[in-house]
Amino acid sequence: MTQPALFRPIRVGNLDLANRIVIAPMCQYSAEEGQMTDWHLIHLGQLALSGASLLTIEATAVLPEGRISYADVGLWNDATEAAMRRTLEGIRRWSEMPIGIQLAHAGRKASTDLPWNGGAQIAPDHAHGWQTVAPSAIAFAEGQNAPMALDRAGLERVRDAFVASALRADNLGLDLVQLHGAHGYLMHQFLSPLSNRRDDDYGGSLENRMRFPLEIFDAVRAAFPKEKPVSMRVSGTDWVEGGWDVEQTVAFAKELERRGCSAIHVSSGGLHAAQQIPVGPGYQVPLARAVKAEVGIPVIAVGLITGFEQAEAIVGTGDADLVALARTILYDPRWPWHAAAELGATVRAPNQYLRCQPRQFKNLFESA
Ligand SMILES: Cc1cc2nc3c(=O)[nH]c(=O)nc-3n(C[C@H](O)[C@H](O)[C@H](O)COP(=O)(O)O)c2cc1C
Repeated sequence: MTQPALFRPIRVGNLDLANRIVIAPMCQYSAEEGQMTDWHLIHLGQLALSGASLLTIEATAVLPEGRISYADVGLWNDATEAAMRRTLEGIRRWSEMPIGIQLAHAGRKASTDLPWNGGAQIAPDHAHGWQTVAPSAIAFAEGQNAPMALDRAGLERVRDAFVASALRADNLGLDLVQLHGAHGYLMHQFLSPLSNRRDDDYGGSLENRMRFPLEIFDAVRAAFPKEKPVSMRVSGTDWVEGGWDVEQTVAFAKELERRGCSAIHVSSGGLHAAQQIPVGPGYQVPLARAVKAEVGIPVIAVGLITGFEQAEAIVGTGDADLVALARTILYDPRWPWHAAAELGATVRAPNQYLRCQPRQFKNLFESA
């Protein structure tokens, strides 16, 4: 029987992935002073047993003021690195799943409360709040404290922080860095004309708006070992008239490919309060398809990919090379096992769990 497309191996840069299912980055709002806690060991640990081919650590702030909330994970000093090392040692002892990290700066969307407390912005003069920064002094939503526009020194500080975090990620033995250029956070704020109103070299034309994210990419790519992949997550559109759109995304993706980017992960939205997102099964897949038509590097689709046949079709028809799962795999952490059973493939399972293989799915498990 031919191997289902979803379970064919693939290379991202020099990283061999066992199948086409990757775990999307997911903020847990459970860190203390940027340091991972036992929650991260529990959460990432269980996902590392899922049979997916890559685990991606949540949006990890490169600077304290780049956190979305005060409980975000960071990687900006020895204490945050040591906490992550402890988590990773726990996971690696029991799982061989490659692990990547999403490096991020929230820009004007930083300094918020936790989602389960409403997620509102916290003003700089309140506990757990701070002054945000952005390309331009335009607040994300009306009534919010406006960000401070970054000056040249500020841009360098942010770029250098991405590099420093990438070097710490390498020290930790992480296999891949994904830069967060999506969801209305700092890099996306530079890309979109709705949030970037600068009149210097970093604003105005598409070339200028792409400049800072590309400078970050180049600096990280130069610092992170060349045998390890650096990828970019993008929003394929703002879903707002006059905003960032799929044509600009394609131009950005081509430029990234030219500079050595290993993969493009295509999400959408998050930049503007007026966004109109046509949410539905696989609603972002057409954006991934548009990027895939123009680049040669692997493209990852994400967003309401919940069905096994749906995922198989996305990869099998060439809409994207990989699928990323977020809510889907939180809801069903054994989704890749269930997909393999349904599609007639083999998946890696921990030795401790081999005895649970259902009788009707012979050869489902490959021992870890
Ligand atoms: C709990 C949670 C946390 C998330 N955190 C991040 C994040 O840290 N970085 C990011 O780029 N996207 C984040 N997202 C978005 C997901 O990665 C994903 O793109 C989105 O949820 C759509 O995929 P899904 O339909 O499988 O959930 C998060 C989503 C959820 C549900």
